[in-house]
Amino acid sequence: MTGNKQKTIAIITSGGDAPGMNACIRALTRTALANGMRVIGFEHGFTGILNRQFRELHSRSVSNIIQRGGTILGSARCAEFMEPEGRELAAKNLTDVGVDILFVIGGNGSLRGAHQLMKTWSGQIIGLPGTIDNDLAGTDYTIGYFTALDTALDAIDKIRDTADAFDRIFLIEVMGREAGFIAQMVGIASGAEDILIPEEKTTLKQISNRLIKAKKTGKQSYIIVVAEGAFEGGAVVLAEKLSKTSGFPCHACVLGHIQRGGSPAISDRILATKLGAFAVEAAMEGANGVMCGEVNNKLVLTLFKETWRLKKTLDPFLLRVNEIVAH
Ligand code: F6P
Repeated sequence: MTGNKQKTIAIITSGGDAPGMNACIRALTRTALANGMRVIGFEHGFTGILNRQFRELHSRSVSNIIQRGGTILGSARCAEFMEPEGRELAAKNLTDVGVDILFVIGGNGSLRGAHQLMKTWSGQIIGLPGTIDNDLAGTDYTIGYFTALDTALDAIDKIRDTADAFDRIFLIEVMGREAGFIAQMVGIASGAEDILIPEEKTTLKQISNRLIKAKKTGKQSYIIVVAEGAFEGGAVVLAEKLSKTSGFPCHACVLGHIQRGGSPAISDRILATKLGAFAVEAAMEGANGVMCGEVNNKLVLTLFKETWRLKKTLDPFLLRVNEIVAH
């Protein structure tokens, strides 16, 4: 750090919470404190900045949180911050409170917000990828993704037990309005017979034909993993339609917010810790307007707008493979 003035850093967690956000708050806080900085945390994301709701974070404030899901700072989706007036107020509050560097832990929407804030606030802003969706370029994995996969997979395995006992067809909806990362991975790992993702639209007829064909080859239980955004109305609507089209009764099961909770998996804790410490070091070297990530085992910085412009793609090999190995 240059100069004598003690720097103040602020942390927010924003948008859909993700397991590992606490581990990230802990790493940011302790790395910043170790480098002589003052640390504050705003509550409920950008909303806390607009309301000047914040608290000092000390080393002991972040004790015993590495294993906890959710976020001790709270989160929100802040409609007011979407408006230019909201961002101007946020910029004023950050300056008045004396913040030099803002760390935003969140997903796509939160990083877009951070990018917009840079136009009205002259401090440094660093992003950290915190979302179960894994839909940000500039990092192989996002904080929370692995835990969500474990949670969803565990639930699907349990549904398979009962599906098998009754020879039933289940459509299991997982999170991912615009991204099929969760659906693809848990679909493959659970041996799901079909996987529906928003990136590749499938018609009702195609889904039905695949089901009928599999039934003819002796398939008894049959699981379709459906990403939220893959079919209009989700798994509930699709189950109704598919029952009619295929002639087989289909059951829907929406996993929902269970996927966002729980104690973070080891890989999320490690990623969050690494990125948190790296983010503070990068900020000390002057980084601004970038998200911290890990690509091919290397810590990297990516401009905010590249994290959504350079769309991260699903593994095409894995998608093709599942059509064979699940049947
Ligand atoms: O952005 C993460 C996410 O978990 C999405 O997968 C999901 O569509 C969305 O959040 C649900 O958000 P909310 O709980 O705020 O409605």
